[in-house]
Amino acid sequence: MTSLSAPTARSEKTKSLALFGGTPVASKPVPFMSTALTPADIDACVGVLKTGMLRANTKCAELEERWGKLTEAKHAMTCANGTCALQLAYESLISPGDEVLVPAWSYIATVSMVVARGGVPIFVDCDPDTFQIDVKDAARKVTRGTTAIAATHLYGCPVDIDGIQELAEKHNLMVIYDAAQAHLATYKGKGLGAFGDAVTYSMYATKNLATGEGGLITCNDDGLANDIKLLRSHGETEKYLHERVGYNYRMNDMAGAIGCSRLDRLADQTNVRRANAAKYDKLLGKIPGIKTPKTTAGAVASFHLYTLQLDLAKLTCTRDEFSNALKAEGVPSATHYPRSLPKQPALEEYDRDDCPVADAMAAKVLSLPMHHDLSDEQIAQVAEAIAKVAAAYKA
Ligand SMILES: Cc1ncc(COP(=O)(O)O)c(C=O)c1O
Repeated sequence: MTSLSAPTARSEKTKSLALFGGTPVASKPVPFMSTALTPADIDACVGVLKTGMLRANTKCAELEERWGKLTEAKHAMTCANGTCALQLAYESLISPGDEVLVPAWSYIATVSMVVARGGVPIFVDCDPDTFQIDVKDAARKVTRGTTAIAATHLYGCPVDIDGIQELAEKHNLMVIYDAAQAHLATYKGKGLGAFGDAVTYSMYATKNLATGEGGLITCNDDGLANDIKLLRSHGETEKYLHERVGYNYRMNDMAGAIGCSRLDRLADQTNVRRANAAKYDKLLGKIPGIKTPKTTAGAVASFHLYTLQLDLAKLTCTRDEFSNALKAEGVPSATHYPRSLPKQPALEEYDRDDCPVADAMAAKVLSLPMHHDLSDEQIAQVAEAIAKVAAAYKA
């Protein structure tokens, strides 16, 4: 909680903090993200504007073609956003009343779209080191009513895909991977499109591949791809012939043009994120009270986010107090997420299964600046600020 009165140092140890009048580590705040368009992105957009045809057209088609190849999927389909991508996949793969195993630790859309489909979300706890869905807990929660697993590659780190696929095979479950945060992540040397029944992506303005709003779905089954395309565009098989009820979840070509242009740089930018994560690991790994994120065995993450856990038993502050102190040092941070999904009011009727690890995450996660434009100096400043705040609040 932020106090309304001017903050005062609690102890001698906290006096050096910028929050209490000390000198900040970074005189200029470290940018939390980098979303700037390049002249090439803008030219690509202007090119579409000049055609006067803004609907999904050649640029969306180009993005689909390239995305399928890059992620090792047979089909890739653009759509309006990552939430629609999930909705299209769920509507094609699960039926109302089905039980769907879902992560308790994710963004709400992974689960709310199961509910929108009429499915029953069964919450699965997360791994305490990687934040990813805990396959052992998922196995414990399978019932005769379970038909699918929806697993998020959270923060850009792939889940234990072998474990999920094995469980799915054993119980004949559909698998939908929510890769909204995991553009170009890989698992055991393969693109994420090689695994599961469908993989969904978001291209929201802050995502690694960002078109403002936008989404992608990949799959390897021709029939499923056809179903998704039909649902995406009012079940239309020829002009004004509607074979089934669907939606307008199409993307537009301006978003497609930005996506294609940014895709030219995505692999390099993703590698920079990975290198930056490795630098953070090294600089932060030994600071008492700080736990750096671990990656699933066999996975290469895309580091949409770099999220720490604070060991609150070793600190005298809350996560929010830590975050406020960091901000004063010139280091912004964010909370992904302040609640586990079973504790969201919108989902409380499904809060039936214990997910203690996910529930506890809410108090201790802290995401640091992570993007392709961070300089070594900025990374060093982030690390110095964390070390300073952790030392000041050491229990
Ligand atoms: C894990 C996850 N799933 C789904 C979504 C939904 O994507 P969109 O915002 O494009 O609808 C997001 C977006 O934040 C996300 O992070």
